[in-house]
Amino acid sequence: MGSSDDIVPGRGAADAIGDEPDRLTMPGYRTRVVEAEVGRALSRVGAVLIDGARACGKTWTARRFARSEARLDDPATLLLAENAPDAVLAGRVPRLLDEWQHAPALWNRVRRECDDRVGAGQFILTGSALPTDDITRHSGMGRIGRVRMRPMSLYEAGHSSGEVSVGALFAGETAAAMPRADADLTAVASWLCMGGWPANLGATGDDAARTLGDYINEAVRVEVFEAIGVRHQPEALMRLMRSIARSVAGEAKITRLAADTGREAPMTRGTASAYLDALQRIFVVEPQPAWSVELRSRATLRNAPKLHFVDPSLAVSALGASPRRLLGDPATFGLLFESLVVRDLRVYSGAQRCEVYHYRDNVGLEADAVIERPDGAWVAVEVKLSASQRAVDAAARSLLRLRDKVAPRRVKDLAALLVVTSVGAAYRRSDGVQVAPISALGP
Ligand SMILES: Nc1ncnc2c1ncn2[C@@H]1O[C@H](COP(=O)(O)OP(=O)(O)OP(=O)(O)O)[C@@H](O)[C@H]1O
Ligand SMILES: [Mg+2]
Repeated sequence: MGSSDDIVPGRGAADAIGDEPDRLTMPGYRTRVVEAEVGRALSRVGAVLIDGARACGKTWTARRFARSEARLDDPATLLLAENAPDAVLAGRVPRLLDEWQHAPALWNRVRRECDDRVGAGQFILTGSALPTDDITRHSGMGRIGRVRMRPMSLYEAGHSSGEVSVGALFAGETAAAMPRADADLTAVASWLCMGGWPANLGATGDDAARTLGDYINEAVRVEVFEAIGVRHQPEALMRLMRSIARSVAGEAKITRLAADTGREAPMTRGTASAYLDALQRIFVVEPQPAWSVELRSRATLRNAPKLHFVDPSLAVSALGASPRRLLGDPATFGLLFESLVVRDLRVYSGAQRCEVYHYRDNVGLEADAVIERPDGAWVAVEVKLSASQRAVDAAARSLLRLRDKVAPRRVKDLAALLVVTSVGAAYRRSDGVQVAPISALGP
């Protein structure tokens, strides 16, 4: 990242909103995987946008890099941004513009400032919603780097050993790890229900459940309204959230989601689609797109995305579930566990700038996740709640079938086949398939 003492434009103006201390303190800060990406982006471009769901840890991580900050969720600062934006931009760099989406006009100012000033790493913008007119999509890219942040993975929260590294799998390495007694099925269920919310680290299950309930309420009542700028019906939106939660990790058919919102008065397709869009704008729901790959056979690919909550704890809360209920309902636990694995794989593979897809074709072959790197290297993943020999055998067979289906010129980019289980040991099978429990995965 750019050194912090070289460019200190407009120090005087910064005093208008109070200059900040050299170091922004965050006691108990735990390292986030995304830091590598943020650091890289800051050394490359003038400004970096960190976006992601509310409370996933954006501000704290941005502060690891920032030397001064302006918080646009503070009314006085917002007023200043609207009337004298230069005063808000001035200060030691990298300068954090927190919750910038409250003052969307700042985007273009930041862009211009980056052109005028020399050097990378001038600004960090954080936001938990895409502004209504999503200016970030059509302008500024190239000068403003973008980093998506998600809730904490099990590795970041300290529940995974990280012995099976996604980066190492891409490098063709093999991993082995002993099973851990403290990472049994009950522990996995409670980590899933707790979610990767950094503010909940160390909270009791009951407290975390209450916080999650409040989080969803706030999202449904306030944030969606702010994101779409029109009135909506929170109760109806809540019903849609439940219907998404019931079909987590399944293909997102909007008509089915709409129909599932109520027998008496189902939502129209148009409303469901507008609400789903709003949930994506506030990063609460994240689709998992279908992998598009050349096949050697005549099978055709299904291209509907799957839907996940950005953290499966949100689905748990919407369904009113709990660790005990999940343990007694393996079907639901299985779907939510798949969603948990996808969350973590997205975090771990972020450093490699990967996308996480799913695979499904018209003859019923599926892979729960395909992690693809920009250079085309890929890892295919099957998720199994059970770690039994039978379950792992079936998952491995399915992955080998996928490998045999993909066109030869894409098979040479295959880095690994991976079965992720809930518990057990990590090892490489004689057929080459890597097996790992979620509590051993890492970046
Ligand atoms: N890396 C971390 N290690 C430990 N605790 C953290 C970490 N990051 C965040 N927290 C805790 O989580 C809380 C929320 O984090 P933060 O304010 O950074 O989230 P945010 O994504 O900016 O939220 P919002 O969208 O509401 O602005 C912090 O107040 C802090 O208690
Ligand atoms: Mg914040």
